[in-house]
Amino acid sequence: MNSIVRKFTSNPFQISMICLALGASFALAHSEIENPTVLKRVHAMEDMEEARLTLSEMAQGLRGFDALSAERARARLIQQSADLPKLFKSPQMDPKTTALQVIWGNWRDFKVKSNKMKKASKGLNVSSVASLRTGLPALENACQACHRAYRQAGQ
Ligand code: HEC
Repeated sequence: MNSIVRKFTSNPFQISMICLALGASFALAHSEIENPTVLKRVHAMEDMEEARLTLSEMAQGLRGFDALSAERARARLIQQSADLPKLFKSPQMDPKTTALQVIWGNWRDFKVKSNKMKKASKGLNVSSVASLRTGLPALENACQACHRAYRQAGQ
């Protein structure tokens, strides 16, 4: 697998196809992102959205509660939030990015917002639907607080 990835990493479209083959979710528009650094952080966001949606659907009764999947989603959110500063450290842009350049003028605050999301993920109690419902708003607020500051409006 590693050799396949290395062979294709120069072509963002092929990276997307590998992501698809691996079952990672991404919108079709992402194949238009040419900067691999931007593509990587967008894929991380998509993964976080998938985990958030799993938990949200359980909390709303749209999907059966399953403690193991809930714990897996929580673990993904903790890991991804811890990785955000690393994923965004380099001030990379792309015509298709929705990230705002002000991130890199407010780097300390960006890290604070990543950390808030990490704390909210850690604070999620996934042992029951009721406790999930209690903890989810803090997580969703943490996503939104960063998007309001550092992502194009209307996204
Ligand atoms: C510390 C800041 C920060 C936090 C916290 C954050 N995001 Fe984001 N998110 C961004 C930025 C910046 C972008 C734009 C990335 C780009 O286009 O390069 C983005 C983009 C996205 C996208 C769009 C990806 C695409 O398809 O283009 C989704 C979905 C998303 N975030 C979901 C989430 C969810 C769910 C959470 C919380 C669980 C979250 N984000 C938390 C900063 C953040």
